[in-house]
Amino acid sequence: MYTMKPEYYTGIEFIDKEHTRLFELAEETHELLYDDLLQDKSDRIIHLVSELINYTKTHFAHEEAYQKSIHYAYIKEHAAQHRQFEDSLLEIDLDEIEDDFETQNDTVEQLLEFLINWLVNHIQKVDMFIK
Ligand SMILES: [Fe+2]
Ligand SMILES: [Fe+2]
Repeated sequence: MYTMKPEYYTGIEFIDKEHTRLFELAEETHELLYDDLLQDKSDRIIHLVSELINYTKTHFAHEEAYQKSIHYAYIKEHAAQHRQFEDSLLEIDLDEIEDDFETQNDTVEQLLEFLINWLVNHIQKVDMFIK
């Protein structure tokens, strides 16, 4: 369901490859949301959020290094968007995940919505213009 589409390709190979991984993580979030057999999703939520924090950090570092190398004019503004995304992920309080199935699903749903909205918007409106 969540995967790269033709309109998400920037034409910069390593960026497209890393974005593919980010969509995979969104897909994993989607699968977790609809996993009705798993009674307690807290471990998977923690794992997923940690993976997202780690992988976006790596991706943003690569992207910003590339921008520097080509003397891209909007590094500051672009990096500010990356930092904002990182801050939002860090705001998710992993110690406060409730035991209740519905509440856990709400958490996963919010994460998925935030992730997809940010990713698609940032790729199409910002990453697309790195040159
Ligand atoms: Fe990106
Ligand atoms: Fe970016």
